[in-house]
Amino acid sequence: MTVEIRQVRSSDYLPVISVIDQWWNGRHMADMLPRLFFEHFTDTSFAAERDGDLAGFLIGFVSQSRPGEAYIHFVGVHPGERGHGLGRQLYEHFFAVVQARGCNLVRAVTAPVNQGSVRFHQRMGFDIEGGDEQAAGVRVVSGHDGEGHDRVRFVKNLAITGP
Ligand SMILES: CC(C)(COP(=O)(O)OP(=O)(O)OC[C@H]1O[C@@H](n2cnc3c(N)ncnc32)[C@H](O)[C@@H]1OP(=O)(O)O)[C@@H](O)C(=O)NCCC(=O)NCCS
Repeated sequence: MTVEIRQVRSSDYLPVISVIDQWWNGRHMADMLPRLFFEHFTDTSFAAERDGDLAGFLIGFVSQSRPGEAYIHFVGVHPGERGHGLGRQLYEHFFAVVQARGCNLVRAVTAPVNQGSVRFHQRMGFDIEGGDEQAAGVRVVSGHDGEGHDRVRFVKNLAITGP
């Protein structure tokens, strides 16, 4: 059975929230993903289903304030589905949708502890921007989301073809 990618809907919220902490290796993530994303950002947020089961999801949006810019807030792939291109498929779907809406820049951030996410974004052709210290060879913005909440900032120019 192939994976189907479709827009998220409000009814996806509870199924996503019920797996998200487990998919993030036990980190508490659910508070960062309130229901509003499943109600107000559905044109640019996607669920991936295999045989009706949640295989992955991406939550993103077109910036309200920065013309030509889009932002990916969350991406998650079921642990059993990882390493087979679904994360790339979700990102490429998002890129195509936001490009059709006039966006050429995509930004995202991740916690430096999430090295898998850092490597994934690098493979997806994102550059790291900013950063005031080095952690495992990666530039990190200290206190980006408040004290103790450091982040790696990513940017990708969709007009430049790459990985
Ligand atoms: C990050 C995540 C979404 C990647 O999904 P995935 O389906 O396994 O990724 P893909 O198989 O599409 O990989 C795409 C590319 O990234 C690379 N990649 C993915 N995860 C990687 C990792 N942990 N380490 C190194 N490279 C990785 C792949 O090798 C692949 O490279 P290629 O296409 O050039 O060969 C998935 O691991 C996940 O859900 N992690 C937990 C949630 C999370 O951390 N989300 C990101 C922060 S919001």
